[in-house]
Amino acid sequence: MPITIKQPKTPEEFAQYFDLRWRVLRAPWQQPAGSEKDTLEDTCIHIMACDDAGAVIGVARLQFNSDSEAQIRYMAVDPEYCRNGVGRKIVSALEAIALENKRNHIILDAREPAVGFYEKLGYTVTEKTYLLFDCIQHYRMQKII
Ligand SMILES: CC(C)(COP(=O)(O)OP(=O)(O)OC[C@H]1O[C@@H](n2cnc3c(N)ncnc32)[C@H](O)[C@@H]1OP(=O)(O)O)[C@@H](O)C(=O)NCCC(=O)NCCS
Repeated sequence: MPITIKQPKTPEEFAQYFDLRWRVLRAPWQQPAGSEKDTLEDTCIHIMACDDAGAVIGVARLQFNSDSEAQIRYMAVDPEYCRNGVGRKIVSALEAIALENKRNHIILDAREPAVGFYEKLGYTVTEKTYLLFDCIQHYRMQKII
């Protein structure tokens, strides 16, 4: 499946980007529109995957925590396109951006069902962290790239 990886630029692209984040990571838990964003959006790097028709099918964000550490957040692939390599391509793009910016330590907080996905990409669990919406257990994971 042809997939294009790019950074959203236009208001329309950002609208599609945040909409997919909301649909995958917030709507199933009855969270309102707007709850998919935080106060750091303007300072982060955003990546989206598009299909050959231009529809946004995967999104994620990279934030810089320090001079050496970057964090992947809000990783979401449209359920209809899961297990097609979309998530792998997005993480690979984020890792390349982290390296370009001299951050070789990547951390993230994985939802329990996504731990196996990140393990496939070389991440390891370092600790059990927080419970989101009283039901989604998260695990801190890391990778040195
Ligand atoms: C987790 C998620 C991002 C994976 O995206 P994806 O596009 O389906 O992943 P890929 O197809 O690129 O998978 C890469 C590898 O991981 C494996 N994999 C994917 N999801 C997996 C899972 N949940 N558990 C174990 N392995 C998984 C794939 O089989 C593939 O392995 P392979 O290369 O040996 O065939 C996606 O399922 C998703 O958005 N889930 C819901 C939201 C979520 O949990 N986001 C993460 C928040 S921390």
